Amino acid sequence: MTGNSLDPYVAAYARRTTGMRASAIRALFAVASRPEVVSLAGGMPYLQSLPLREIAAQVERLISDEGSVALQYGSGQGIEPLREQICEIMSLEGIVAEPDDVVVTVGSQMALDLVTKIFCDPGDVILAEAPSYVGALSVFSAYQTEVVHIAMDDSGLIPEAVEEAIAGCAARGQRVKLLYTIPNFHNPAGVTLSAERRARIAEICRAAGIAVLEDNPYGLLGFDGATHRAIRADDADNVIYLGSFSKTFAPGLRIGWVLAPHAVREKLVLANEAATLNPPVFNQMMISRYLASFDWKSQIKAYRQTYAERRDAMLGALSTHMPDGTHWTVPQGGFYVWLTAPPGLDTSAMLPRAVTARVAYVPGTAFFTDGQGGSQMRLSFCFPTPDRIVEGVRRLGSVIDAEREVRATFGSDGMAGPRATGGIAGATPGVVAGVDAPSPNTA
Ligand SMILES: Cc1ncc(COP(=O)(O)O)c(C=O)c1O
Repeated sequence: MTGNSLDPYVAAYARRTTGMRASAIRALFAVASRPEVVSLAGGMPYLQSLPLREIAAQVERLISDEGSVALQYGSGQGIEPLREQICEIMSLEGIVAEPDDVVVTVGSQMALDLVTKIFCDPGDVILAEAPSYVGALSVFSAYQTEVVHIAMDDSGLIPEAVEEAIAGCAARGQRVKLLYTIPNFHNPAGVTLSAERRARIAEICRAAGIAVLEDNPYGLLGFDGATHRAIRADDADNVIYLGSFSKTFAPGLRIGWVLAPHAVREKLVLANEAATLNPPVFNQMMISRYLASFDWKSQIKAYRQTYAERRDAMLGALSTHMPDGTHWTVPQGGFYVWLTAPPGLDTSAMLPRAVTARVAYVPGTAFFTDGQGGSQMRLSFCFPTPDRIVEGVRRLGSVIDAEREVRATFGSDGMAGPRATGGIAGATPGVVAGVDAPSPNTA
């Protein structure tokens, strides 16, 4: 018999599971969720600001009025009234779309899975920002694709770097299938793609025959209330757009969507049915009722105000407590700040010390498939209160100081230096604001 004493099925698993590894930091997160630890790690929306009583009354009415539909199997594409409302939401970002081209999914995470499943064979390349959303990278790895990271700066993805990457892949004989981008209030980088670059990147991808996968869960969470025109708004044929109710309403409902060109939409419905039969009807109807009967735009405004206050608390505390040589992005919306520690610090190695000091973050390497991000980390300001954020950042400042002291005493052996190759992977000037002027980029 093959296998080992811990897992007798080792020899039986499919090859695609080799990329599925439990993160070394997962165990620490169990500790990080203790109340005494300030977690700047998770991307959880602050649901306390939802009108929970009214939602409870709506749920009761949904069951008593339409329970036999809400609790039944449903369509693999999702219910039509919700798809119509989704089109109205997307129109806020300049998108003109038909409900027929929308597919409702179990969160946008499932949409990422379905799109990758229908486009990518093992070995195909997906271009993605450097850094990129960790959940998307897990999906790409599960389908055995190769991710090529593309540099960003304070205006998001750099078009010339996209062109170079495409040319590089062509020279190596690799097939590029998708360009995956989070244009608004990026997770984890916190930056937003400029309007000029949106047009340019769409053009580059169209010319190269590469579909753009535009992932936009945070687009309505801009702190000034303004929305950015979606890439999809100007390129209906080559952009697959993903949206979600997780950040603007509630992630527990697990409802997201894909807007895709017609032919792709047909395949997505088949893939959705194969994966889940249908997205949860009850949750879709609940969201549809919420959108129809609540002032959901005011609710989003309340979210925006809460997050703006927390962003300010975090930026203020970073200015006060971070040592020289630390840099960070200044997000105009969303949940995240991307921080670059002073040269030579390894944020993965430092995490146990941080958790011991009762503060948690996500080390930068989680957001790359190629080992970059060693001196960086993602800090979330969405969940803890402003006071807790300030205290968490104060603790983090002490941890970085202590780590630098150890480094100064024992040298840098075993500590990863910055491995940036450009863009905000290595803290480009202009993206970052630090306690001192950011030094020129390393590459
Ligand atoms: C960029 C990005 N895409 C997709 C998701 C997944 O969201 P959902 O809850 O809709 O599955 C997240 C969640 O954090 C995200 O940040």
